[in-house]
Amino acid sequence: MTVAELMHKPAVVVRQEITLAEAAKVLDQANVGAAAVLDHEGHLVGMVSERDLLRSVGHAIDPGATTVAEVMTRTPVTLSIDDSVAKALRLFTERRFRHLPVLDAEQVAGILSIRHVVRVAQISEVLPAGSAPPELAPRGLEGVAVAETSVGDVRGEEGFFHYRGYNAVELARRCSFEQVWHLLVEGTLPDGSQLADFTARTVAARKLPEGITDMLRGVATLPNYTPLSSLRSAVSVTAAALGAQPTLDLTSEQVRADCLRIAALVPVALMRLHRQRNGLAPVEPDPELGYAAAYLQMLTGRRPEPREARALEQYLILTMDHGFNASTFTARVITSTGSDIGSALTGAIGALAGPLHGGAPSRALAMLDAIGTPDRAEAYLRAEILAGQRLMGFGHRVYKTDDPRSLLLREVASELGGPQVEFARRVEDTALRVLEELKPGRRLYTNVEFYAGVVMNSVGVPRDMFTPTFACSRTVGWTAAIAEQASNNRLIRPSALYVGPPPPRPLPDGYGVEAAALSARG
Ligand code: ACO
Repeated sequence: MTVAELMHKPAVVVRQEITLAEAAKVLDQANVGAAAVLDHEGHLVGMVSERDLLRSVGHAIDPGATTVAEVMTRTPVTLSIDDSVAKALRLFTERRFRHLPVLDAEQVAGILSIRHVVRVAQISEVLPAGSAPPELAPRGLEGVAVAETSVGDVRGEEGFFHYRGYNAVELARRCSFEQVWHLLVEGTLPDGSQLADFTARTVAARKLPEGITDMLRGVATLPNYTPLSSLRSAVSVTAAALGAQPTLDLTSEQVRADCLRIAALVPVALMRLHRQRNGLAPVEPDPELGYAAAYLQMLTGRRPEPREARALEQYLILTMDHGFNASTFTARVITSTGSDIGSALTGAIGALAGPLHGGAPSRALAMLDAIGTPDRAEAYLRAEILAGQRLMGFGHRVYKTDDPRSLLLREVASELGGPQVEFARRVEDTALRVLEELKPGRRLYTNVEFYAGVVMNSVGVPRDMFTPTFACSRTVGWTAAIAEQASNNRLIRPSALYVGPPPPRPLPDGYGVEAAALSARG
């Protein structure tokens, strides 16, 4: 395509002796952004654009007394009518012009605006050398760092993950949920008085906002209820009722305060839904209990045994955060638009709901059920692998050694004791041996899900509440990511490589709505 096909013709021209006020009138009447400036013999001597006029106003130049000759761009770069659009685009992008005069022999035949070119730009034809299409990241963004974070990280080869530099397994062994919550969202391990203050704030935040209970009742009675999708709806409604404001309008402190309130309310809303769905009266959280104990108390209606609460607490700490996973990334993308915390958390739960992310701790338990007794383990596991099936609770994309979460959860499960734990240990031993034999060199180890199900089952969490329980603890990690994103925000807006038919595609002849029909629509 040549520039002659695109340019504005005939060119709008002005004489160099006229004033800026007169030139402005010409541009205005012709509805163009620039004019060619001619001398008295009709030769091109310059270009004058709206930008020149604006700049003059900015410099307090009198437009009624200043001539075009004084502000115009002299001896402008020109195009010839046979030049390609690709050449024009190159000039526009490299030299930062907005308008170029187009000459036919010595005469100004038209003016090409960058807008004309951009409107028809064809990727392969006119993309200038040096501005290659965006580089395509690997599918799934594997191995691509898309942000900096101080929240935590996973080191798969070493079998290690941490929260703000502290070994997460050690935190789970030695700390309370509230201590690690403070660490993740506030950034530091709290001292005694900070912890007391923080805990008091989390307890006070467990009160559902006015008018929300009817809505939760409505969600709990939906025909196709699932705990996680209902929790997603409940979080959205709860955040709206709390009046969560766009993070763009909040200070970092206000964002963290909103994070705390919503993270404290997520288990309260979840248990409301669960009990309502099961025809049970709601149970208010006991203010004397910490997060994990109150979780079980709201679930069952009784104060849990300390060892049960502690076992769940350790599971919850271990699953608060895990690097830049899909739901955490989702929360950050939503926050990057300046949106509110409720939207970011609702989106994160949506991402977690996918089978490729939220996993299904209940599947590992279902496998134990299917095996039934220890003597059947070997035959069952071999048959599964030989049939091309995966053993649930084994293997991991990141960990190519022991998953540190599974090691601690095995200990936690053993401390809880009981026949299921003993059975699980025997199945695990057999599975690892069979995997080593039938899948040599694949580095398949027990993952977090194998003992997560056993632990949750042992402390009374029903199977359909396994993933929602995971969502509650992960809410802390999400809120830490949200607070970090909001405190140093830049809109996350990547590009895609367009691979469809080359644009612009002409509409087929006769396609569209008749002019008469268009005007009838008003
Ligand atoms: N049982 C049997 N074989 C397995 C298993 C398993 N659990 N996991 C991987 N393999 C085998 C694969 O069949 C494959 O063998 P091949 O080379 O003969 O084809 C090899 O190991 C490599 O498998 P990949 O698919 O490349 O491993 P990937 O890293 O993609 O998979 C995953 C990770 C999805 C977790 C996988 O191990 C799996 O499906 N495990 C079972 C489901 C499970 O436990 N999910 C929970 C994960 S933890 C979490 O999400 C929080």
